[in-house]
Amino acid sequence: MTIIVATIRSRPIRPMASLTAAFILLTALATPVFADAPTYRPNVEEAFRAMTETVNISAILDSLQTGYDKRVRPNYGGAHVDVGITMHILSISSLSEVQMGKGAFTAATNSGRAAALSSKSGGGDSDDGGGEPSQDFTLDFYFRQHWKDPRLSFPGLHGLEQLTVGSEYLSRIWVPDTFFANEKKSYFHTATTPNEMLRITNEGGVLRSMRLTITASCPMNLMYFPMDRQLCVIEIESFGYSMDHIRLSWHAGDKSVAIEQGVSLPQFRVLGFNRKTIIASTSTGNYSRLLCEIAFVRSMGYYLIQIYIPSTLIVVISWVSFWLNRAATPARVSLGVTTVLTMTTLMSSTNAALPKISYVKSIDVYLGTCFVMVFASLLEYAAVGYLGKRIQMRKNRILQLQKMIEQRKAQHLELSHEGGPDAADHAPKQTNHRIGSKQSNHRDHSSKQSVSREPLLLLPTEPTSSDQIGWAASGARQLELSSK
Ligand SMILES: *[C@@H]1O[C@H](CO)[C@@H](O)[C@H](O)[C@H]1NC(C)=O
Ligand SMILES: *[C@@H]1O[C@H](CO)[C@@H](O)[C@H](O)[C@H]1NC(C)=O
Repeated sequence: MTIIVATIRSRPIRPMASLTAAFILLTALATPVFADAPTYRPNVEEAFRAMTETVNISAILDSLQTGYDKRVRPNYGGAHVDVGITMHILSISSLSEVQMGKGAFTAATNSGRAAALSSKSGGGDSDDGGGEPSQDFTLDFYFRQHWKDPRLSFPGLHGLEQLTVGSEYLSRIWVPDTFFANEKKSYFHTATTPNEMLRITNEGGVLRSMRLTITASCPMNLMYFPMDRQLCVIEIESFGYSMDHIRLSWHAGDKSVAIEQGVSLPQFRVLGFNRKTIIASTSTGNYSRLLCEIAFVRSMGYYLIQIYIPSTLIVVISWVSFWLNRAATPARVSLGVTTVLTMTTLMSSTNAALPKISYVKSIDVYLGTCFVMVFASLLEYAAVGYLGKRIQMRKNRILQLQKMIEQRKAQHLELSHEGGPDAADHAPKQTNHRIGSKQSNHRDHSSKQSVSREPLLLLPTEPTSSDQIGWAASGARQLELSSK
């Protein structure tokens, strides 16, 4: 019934109803548009109202400044500010194991808040106190920070969507107090003007880009030196604003960090980089921290040419003495000593360029092995010389003993000759028989024979060297006998 009534009623006012429906629909569509319409600060509105045809940038900048308090962060009391960071690495100028300068600068720059940091959780680096000499690397890069400051928004009239302003304007607006937590030294480029840029979009987005050169600490593990890989980290953090106020993030995801093509170092190759976001907890609050890790691998070439090949050759040279005559003492000793000294020099010059670390490095093992081999070849000569001397002495003693035995025998014979005079009577017969049958024992009898007749005929064969000695001895005896 009611439906019918309604239809009956509505029939005469149908065009009116459709009109109101359309009006409601229109307003419903329009309300969100009005609600989202950006509200500008009165001064900004006013400055733009004055502009009809031409855009007066000075007027805009001035209007943005009036009533702006740069001491207060955007959205104070509201949500935190998201600061997006991107980096473009232009060059990596050094990566050194030993500290070049003095540590005073480092201590001064790190003394500020670092002293208050009792414990840092999840940090990428470990500060090794004062024991290890500081190791660092130097980076040259564009450092870009993106954030949104609604107070700097302005109507995008006349195609004006973005203001690119001189860096002087930065001193008039709020900027995030970003710092590098592991920085030792930094350099801000000012040729020809400060290398800094500022862009403000009509929605209040701010981009600040600057060129920086930073020397940051990079603790190294040299266990595998010179075949090592190093991971160096840059830590980016807000100095004063904890996570309630500022949160840092990588602005462009995977493309947040870029390295210029062909960035190289004399000793290292860049393997790649990695981005991380962590929370650094300190006694003053939790801070959002960004880490950019850069991995390096050392190029072996230098060490191959300067250390590995020379030390190998020195070991080979020390082997040359094995082919030299044992008696060539000056040559062998000087060869051995020279190679040992060269190895010592090579080892000390290698380690002079490195920090005085207490663990054994890969190169120490190699050079140590080379040194032991060179040293062993010198010892080998000493051992050979000593053993040779011992052998010679033993030979001499044997010879002396032989001589003595000969003498004893001769004396014995002499005695027996003197004791039995009839032995001489049989001598001629015996001798003739001996010569006919055997010549090995002729010596004994020759002495006897020589006492009797024809001594020259009793030497029919060439006597051997030992025989000669025996013969000489018996000759002496013969003289004695003849004199008797
Ligand atoms: C631009 O605005 C400034 C004041 O903000 C004014 O002094 C100047 O005359 C204006 N320039 C033009 C071309 O209107
Ligand atoms: C910092 O974070 C930890 C957990 O990550 C939390 O327990 C602690 O209360 C936070 N400190 C502050 C000051 O917000």
